[in-house]
Formats: sequence, C-alpha cells, structure tokens
Amino acid sequence: MERQKVTASTVDMSAIIALCKNRGFVFPGSEIYGGLANTWDYGPLGVELKNNIKREWWKYFVQQNENSVGLDGGILMNPKVWVASGHVAGFSDPLMDCKGCKTRHRADKLIEAKSKGTVNADFKPNEWLEQWITNNKVVCPNCGKIDWTNIRQFNLMFKTQRGVVEKDNTDVIYLRPESAQNQFVNFLNVQRTMRLKIPFGIGQIGKAFRNEVTPGNFIIRTVEFEQMEHQLFCRASDSLGIYENYKNKAMDFYTTRLGLTNTRLRFKDHETLCHYARAACDMEYNFPSLGFVEIGGTHHRGTHDLGSHARESGKSQDYTDPNTNEKFLPTVIESSHGCDRIFLAVLADAYHEETLPDGDVRIVLKIAPRLAPYKVAVLPLQKKDLTEKASAVYRLLSERYMTTYDETASIGKRYRRQDEIGTPFCVTVDYDTLNDNCVTVRDRDTMRQQRIEISKLEGYINERIR
Ligand code: GAP
Repeated sequence: MERQKVTASTVDMSAIIALCKNRGFVFPGSEIYGGLANTWDYGPLGVELKNNIKREWWKYFVQQNENSVGLDGGILMNPKVWVASGHVAGFSDPLMDCKGCKTRHRADKLIEAKSKGTVNADFKPNEWLEQWITNNKVVCPNCGKIDWTNIRQFNLMFKTQRGVVEKDNTDVIYLRPESAQNQFVNFLNVQRTMRLKIPFGIGQIGKAFRNEVTPGNFIIRTVEFEQMEHQLFCRASDSLGIYENYKNKAMDFYTTRLGLTNTRLRFKDHETLCHYARAACDMEYNFPSLGFVEIGGTHHRGTHDLGSHARESGKSQDYTDPNTNEKFLPTVIESSHGCDRIFLAVLADAYHEETLPDGDVRIVLKIAPRLAPYKVAVLPLQKKDLTEKASAVYRLLSERYMTTYDETASIGKRYRRQDEIGTPFCVTVDYDTLNDNCVTVRDRDTMRQQRIEISKLEGYINERIR
C-alpha cells in the first residue's frame, strides 16, 4: 500500500493549461496550420469530461426539474429572430485600434484591466470610454504606445450567406450568438405539444458563436462555445421569487453536482442592467492566476423576448390560462451556463500537486467520479501471463463505464498517469487473480488499495460513483 501523508501546493493556470494540452483534454484549433485565434478542439479526454458536465446539467435542469422539458434548436435561424432579439442593432463591442501596431482592442476591457476591475465600463457611452482612456493614459497592451483611433462599434454576430449565389443583404443569415432564442421562438410549440401549464421550463444545450477579438485566455473567451440554458416561463407576480430560487439552484448545481469548492464561487449582481432586465446576477469562479470570472448567470428577462417576437413576427405569443382563459405574455427567468468555462473551473478545482512522503510529486485531478473522463483503468501487473485475464476484466467494465487499459511501464508510473487524468479507480490484475478471481482496486485520492472479487466490482464502482 502507498503511504498516504501528502502535502499539497498551490498551482497556477499555466500548469492546468499544459495538462489540458499534453493529456488530450484540449488542443489548439487547426494547430498544424498555425492555429486560429480563440478556437480550441476538445480531445479524447476533453470530450468525455464535457459530455459528463452536460449530462449532469441536463439531469439537474431538465430531468429532475419539475415541469421542465428539453429542446435542440437550430444554429441557423431566420434573421428576423436577431432583429427582434435586439442583436442586429445592439450586440456590439466598443473597439479601438492601436495605430502603432494595428491591433484591435475592446475599450471596456482596457479600462477593466487598467483599473484592476474597480471601474465598471458596461453600457457606458463611447465618449465616456474614450475620455477615461485618455485621462488615465491607457497604453496598448501589445506595443505599449498611446495612439488610439476613436471607438467604433463592431457587431459580434458571425454572418454567413445562404444559397449559392450572393445577391444582396437579403441572403445574410447569422450563426446564433446565444442558444436562448430557440427556446423563445418555440415557446408555444412546446407549451401546446407537451400540454404545459406555467410555470414551466425549456432547457437546451448547444453551440453559440461570437466574433470575439480580444485574447481569449484559453477556453474562457472563444469564438465558438457551448451554452447550457434554461428558460422558465412564469407569471410576472411570481417572477422575483423564481429568480431568487434559480440563483440558488445555480449555486447548488455547481457545488453539489459538479463538486466545485463553494468558497471559490460568488454571486455578482449586475450594477447596470440592459433596458429590459429587472435583475441579473453572474455566477463567478475564482480561477488560479485569473481571479473571478463569470461562468454563468441568472437573468430576469421580463416579457422582452416573447413580446419582441410577437411584434416582429406578427404572431401572438400569449399564453392562455386554461382555468380562467386569461391571455398574457409570460415573464422569463433565464439560467444560463457556459460549458467551456465550467469545464475549466472543474479542472482548476480538481488540479492538485501533492508531495508524497518519499519526496515524489504527483499531479492528481480530484475530479468528482461521475465527471471523470475514465471511471476505471485496468492494469495487468505483468504483461506476459496476465493480459488475457486483464482483457476480460476490461471488456466486462467497458460495457458499463469509460474504461482504459494500460500495460506499459511500471505499475507506479501507470498509477501516476491515471492520477493525472483523474481516473478514480485503478484495477490491478495480478498472479493471485488467476486463482482467486480478485483484483486490487486503488483509490485515486487516498491511494488506498483494496482486494475485491471481480463479480463485485461493478457494485463497488457504482456505489462509489454515486
Ligand atoms: N442567453 C444569455 C447569454 O447568452 P451570456 O452571459 O452572454 O448570456 C452565458 O452568456 C454564458 O456563456 C457566460 O456566463 C459564459 O460562461 C459563456 N460565454 C459567453 N461568451 C463566451 C465566450 N466568448 N467564450 C466562452 N464562453 C462564453
């Protein structure tokens, strides 16, 4: 049995990013062509972890959430959707170019960085932003000069052309910048076909696209990302209570379902609200090196979305109360979560470097077992005589769990490999296994080992994952 007294050290983000790239979690997008700014690909372990996060979200916000159903809407929608939602007119960033090095920057982010987060530049007019940048002598983060153009607003939506012949602007369609609008335009379809009474919710997981020009901090700010969003449709009179409830639900999801440390999470109420919102609150996670970053949020969207779609489409979006026949536009409480940022938060929370009593340092991802990419690793102690038995154990376990198999290098090295990618259980097949049909199960976190009959493995692992 390995000795257990260990000491942990603090880590910074570069160690986690290196692990992601070296162990198959996340690769730079189109790397062999020099990459493409702010794009990343999820590798074999990354896709497992991401799928497990999405599965937990779905279970919490759809499967186990009373009166909630799912949806999988299209990425491409009628462009009028984005007129109604306000994205065509108002979804833009205030950008300035550095005349010295020709790089482009977001004025609000320059102010945030210069003031170390003490000045909130959200929704401020361009004149105010320009004045602040001049008064505070904000330099270009790339070349260090102060030689800015005026601010211009750039729409964040990706445009594309429909059809084979480019005619005029009538062919322009957009990649959705948020997944939420699918839920709004399908509100009555879902309500009618599922015979739902308000309050009810629609959950959706899907890609969103934003033409982000600012450096992305790894997968924190990317041009293509995945959102997990739940829209709750209710009466205005119930909405503030439901809003508070969904704020708490978000915290509960992050801590009890994803296992994030609650002292690293905080609510941040929006000081300035967009014109239609009654209330909005970000959920922030305290990343090593980066500090608090928004990973999700709860938004009181009022009747803005359904009202705008009713006006733009000319089709009433009213809900009819089945008891009173009263017709009204429901209010929406949105619970929105960024899968990619949560993915990084899960890794940051789980990442530990521990010094063992013999002086060795082990990297271990203490990730919640149900989120771990591989649940089990099967390791024959010796290659020659034990492969057949170990392969049979592998086949048995891989029917139920993502299981990996490794017969190269010493058993100690193989344990370390599995620790580093967060595999909660290592199952070692040794010579005794051939006689007693028992294997040694090693626990990732405690490094304790225990002898278990092969026929009882599944029950043991199930229990521990639960
Ligand atoms: N429907 C509401 C909405 O889209 P948002 O705050 O713009 O709200 C929700 O986005 C979440 O999506 C954020 O909390 C964040 O986790 C994630 N997100 C937004 N922009 C992102 C980007 N460029 N890269 C990665 N994740 C992003």
